Amino acid sequence: MARQKLIMISGAAPGLGKSSLAAGLARRWRDRGLRVELFEEDDILERAEFADLIGIWRAGNRPSLDVVLDAAARYLDSCRAAEADVYVQDALFPFLASLFAWGYSDEDTSAFLDRLAEAAESFELLQVHLVGPAQDSIPRAAAREGEGWLEAMIERAQSWAGAQQVTDLASLAQFFSLTDGRARRLLRRAPWASFTLDADRPQSSVEEEAAELLEPLIAGDDRLPRYDELRDEALHRSLKGWDFSWLRPRAAVVATLPWSYPRVVADLARDRARILDMGTGGGEVLSRLTARASFTVANEAWPPNVRVAATNLAGLKVPVVQDEGAADNFNQDGVRGRLPYRSGAFHLVSNRHEAFLASEVFRVLAPGGLFVTQQVDHHSYDDLYAALELDPPADPESWLSLAGAQVSEVGFQVIVGQRGEEHQAFADVGALIWYLRAVPWIMPEFHHVEFRGILQRLHVMMRRSPVVVRQRRFLLIARKPTES
Ligand SMILES: C[S@@+](CC[C@H](N)C(=O)[O-])C[C@H]1O[C@@H](n2cnc3c(N)ncnc32)[C@H](O)[C@@H]1O
Repeated sequence: MARQKLIMISGAAPGLGKSSLAAGLARRWRDRGLRVELFEEDDILERAEFADLIGIWRAGNRPSLDVVLDAAARYLDSCRAAEADVYVQDALFPFLASLFAWGYSDEDTSAFLDRLAEAAESFELLQVHLVGPAQDSIPRAAAREGEGWLEAMIERAQSWAGAQQVTDLASLAQFFSLTDGRARRLLRRAPWASFTLDADRPQSSVEEEAAELLEPLIAGDDRLPRYDELRDEALHRSLKGWDFSWLRPRAAVVATLPWSYPRVVADLARDRARILDMGTGGGEVLSRLTARASFTVANEAWPPNVRVAATNLAGLKVPVVQDEGAADNFNQDGVRGRLPYRSGAFHLVSNRHEAFLASEVFRVLAPGGLFVTQQVDHHSYDDLYAALELDPPADPESWLSLAGAQVSEVGFQVIVGQRGEEHQAFADVGALIWYLRAVPWIMPEFHHVEFRGILQRLHVMMRRSPVVVRQRRFLLIARKPTES
């Protein structure tokens, strides 16, 4: 039997349309023949599974997290027994509003979410969280509910943790915005997929979008790999050298750069006697070049890769030298980045995606020698930041001009400076997690546990379409003058 789906509908404030959305989705899915049970907001007051919890709450006490979990577990048992395909809940799981009102900390709440997910292990869980300006949505709820509702709401709010100062619509709205910030932080790392939807628009359009987003799950093919399987594969697959070849079918380049770096280097290498490849990684790119000079040397600063490169390049008689590596090009202290070679030793220095100290590259080149580098430009990962709901770094448009200035300052003549984009389509979340493990510096804030909620949302979305990341690169070729 396919796994039962449990769809949690929550909202940042009253009046955002949770109940209409829950009812609308339930209707849609019933209409296509699925067995759907809708748990309405007030059902909790009547259902036997929640009687203990409601009793404690009615007596004016704070239910313990164990009491909430026991009630949730009883409810899940009844769902398993009832064998519906989909359970749609209007503001039930994951109890966030209640836990906040009862004063539970983020830490306790986060641990609670983990335990709730464990209890619901046999279900596919997914949350749709509606957001919108509370100062507009509360009056909508008040108009719908009738006279006295707002006053009663304000009075009720005063008994909630952190809401003692709520006295009117404005302070109530402010309270809801604060708790929503907490909710979203918690949902980012929740152990299930959660979609945050803007509810400040016609109800039909919210429902349409939610149905579209949830479709892969509702129509889901249970033979497809589960999130946990893809994540575990990504966490255990080795990161040896700089070999991304296994990733290719799952993170295909769907639009290529206007130049081919290996072809550019091979063309330049053809009539040059001595070449240095800086930051060779595991030597993968260098070893696949169609042309190399008879005397080719590679250097690498990162210890684990020195050995990998030496092994990969030994058969080609390319020695690998461990060097100190250059400081980042944006923040150069001028000390690191020395190259352990005599001046004028090479006719071509190649460098893909590696920091460099321009004065050292200049020094090791013979007069007339060329420096060719492809670099990762600013904003290369903006799409990845957006997918993970983070703001991208506020960098300038490109650092090609900075690199051009760095090489010109030491005496190079720039002969090519070109920017381009390549689009990489991540087909599954495992490919994305592995990629971020391989290049941790592009997003230091990423950790798969901290982004579980988002990663699982992407997993659902990627059943339909890949996450396409428009990566920016630039190519810079500079010549050391024959007379310097
Ligand atoms: C982006 S790689 C480029 C490698 C190679 N030139 C290529 O184009 O395939 C840049 C360098 O980062 C090194 N590297 C890999 N993982 C690293 C890590 N966690 N910390 C520091 N450097 C790392 C690699 O060895 C490599 O030399």
